[in-house]
Amino acid sequence: MAALFPAWADSVLRAVLVSGVGVAIGLPAALMAWARSPTSTGEGSPIPQPVQFDHRHHVRDDGIDCLYCHSDARRSPYAGVPATSVCMGCHAQVWDQSPELAIVRKSAADNKPIIWNRVTNLPGHVFFDHSIHVRQGVGCVSCHGRVDQMAVVHQAEPLLMSECLDCHRDPERYLRPRDEVTNMEWVPPRPQREIGHELALRYDVHPTTDCSGCHR
Ligand code: HEC
Ligand code: HEC
Ligand code: HEC
Ligand code: HEC
Ligand code: HEC
Repeated sequence: MAALFPAWADSVLRAVLVSGVGVAIGLPAALMAWARSPTSTGEGSPIPQPVQFDHRHHVRDDGIDCLYCHSDARRSPYAGVPATSVCMGCHAQVWDQSPELAIVRKSAADNKPIIWNRVTNLPGHVFFDHSIHVRQGVGCVSCHGRVDQMAVVHQAEPLLMSECLDCHRDPERYLRPRDEVTNMEWVPPRPQREIGHELALRYDVHPTTDCSGCHR
């Protein structure tokens, strides 16, 4: 059967798109360059928070798993931040007089959530889902960096479309066993390619590269 469109149609379509966009691009291009600069993606800069919560102490020193506090990441698009009750589960007993925790105690007493400032934020036109990444063996560290070494969380990766696609086109370079997803120090015991390939087959991993997979 003949192809629906001849091969050159694709090139023509591209050319039309590119030139069409080209005309209107001047100022927008400059704005976009700014929009992708580290200053505006927030990459690198620590975001001040209402409580001096320190991942280094909680994750490294106290050995608390990421999913103890970000449990929604297992089952929903959002990882979420923990409710005050999660903090009070320990801090009703541990360091219960600390002035650093005054806001946490007040939040519990008033039954009002703490308003944490967002660090990682995709534009509204992008769909993202934590649960599938967690289920299919993509480590938190691949996208968020060494959170366990951050006194104050900053965005470690710019999380641009190119980065999503880079992995979606060849996820075997990054896959790890599901139960190692939150391990910040996991290193492949055998060559990553080998393990990645096995896991991709076992978990049946085929990430989308269709525009509609991430833009809905
Ligand atoms: C004891 C609870 C707790 C544990 C354990 C914990 N976190 Fe968090 N996490 C928080 C709280 C509270 C915030 C919001 C305040 C902040 O940004 O520090 C947060 C914020 C974050 C953010 C920034 C959220 C945003 O707005 O983009 C990331 C990313 C994150 N955590 C990843 C992790 C990872 C990865 C682990 C495991 C290595 C982990 N967390 C373990 C409580 C926890
Ligand atoms: C599983 C127990 C546990 C949970 C849950 C927990 N913490 Fe902690 N937290 C600790 C321990 C233990 C320390 C003190 C030792 C240390 O720094 O490692 C601590 C220390 C702190 C300190 C420093 C206190 C000071 O005076 O310097 C702050 C602030 C804090 N936690 C905030 C939080 C917040 C906010 C949450 C909820 C998002 C939370 N913690 C959840 C166990 C916990
Ligand atoms: C494939 C990349 C990727 C992986 C893997 C990943 N995250 Fe995220 N995370 C993101 C992106 C992108 C956002 C911003 C989402 C948005 O703006 O809608 C985010 C946001 C967050 C937030 C802010 C609250 C929220 O739900 O938006 C927390 C907390 C967080 N991630 C924790 C984690 C933890 C813990 C893990 C591992 C269990 C993890 N993430 C794995 C990419 C990832
Ligand atoms: C390090 C690798 C990696 C990165 C980075 C990554 N992903 Fe994924 N993504 C995956 C894997 C693996 C799957 C699971 C695919 C499957 O089960 O077939 C997935 C699945 C998805 C899905 C569900 C649809 C599907 O493919 O089945 C969406 C939506 C998605 N990713 C969006 C994003 C976005 C948006 C980003 C960038 C912010 C991103 N991902 C970054 C590896 C990655
Ligand atoms: C795996 C997820 C993913 C897929 C697949 C994907 N995108 Fe994106 N896209 C993103 C993310 C994340 C952003 C926001 C960050 C950025 O601007 O790079 C984005 C931003 C954009 C933007 C905003 C303009 C810009 O460059 O800043 C456009 C336009 C876009 N995508 C078009 C597309 C088209 C067309 C396709 C199909 C060929 C596509 N995307 C496929 C994740 C994806």
